Amino acid sequence: MRPLPASGVVLLVAVAVGSLACTGGKVTRAYTVAVEGNPLHGKQLIQSYGCGSCHIIPGIRTARGLVGPPLTLFARRTMIAGELPNSPDNLARWLKDPAAVEPKTAMPNLGLTSQQAHDVAAYLYTLQ
Ligand code: HEC
Repeated sequence: MRPLPASGVVLLVAVAVGSLACTGGKVTRAYTVAVEGNPLHGKQLIQSYGCGSCHIIPGIRTARGLVGPPLTLFARRTMIAGELPNSPDNLARWLKDPAAVEPKTAMPNLGLTSQQAHDVAAYLYTLQ
């Protein structure tokens, strides 16, 4: 099945990374990332591109693959593939062309557009 075309809808999703931590009676957030992308559209893309054949992805029932690492709690990760600091732009960069980041990676280039990569990233940042 062909993925849906990019909807052109860009939502700014503020994702609070890390749970609220209690420090000496004060409630603080670890940090907050503004993600440019549509997480619902990203979820559909994840389903149609078959990311779940290689990854366990919370919220995607059929995503049970064990070829790549599980993408659980992705918003709390420090690094992407052990190569890049975990930021929205770096995640989109990885998703668009993994081998450009890590030449020997087993993750294929799935031909995502920039907008699609940002939508998928927006979904992955809901995993916190
Ligand atoms: C053929 C299997 C395969 C498919 C399909 C695949 N991946 Fe991956 N993915 C991998 C492998 C293997 C790695 C580990 C890469 C590395 O560290 O070199 C990886 C790494 C990742 C990472 C970094 C994980 C980490 O722990 O840092 C993310 C995020 C990711 N994939 C998302 C996706 C998304 C989203 C899709 C679908 C658009 C997808 N992958 C499709 C195999 C796959």
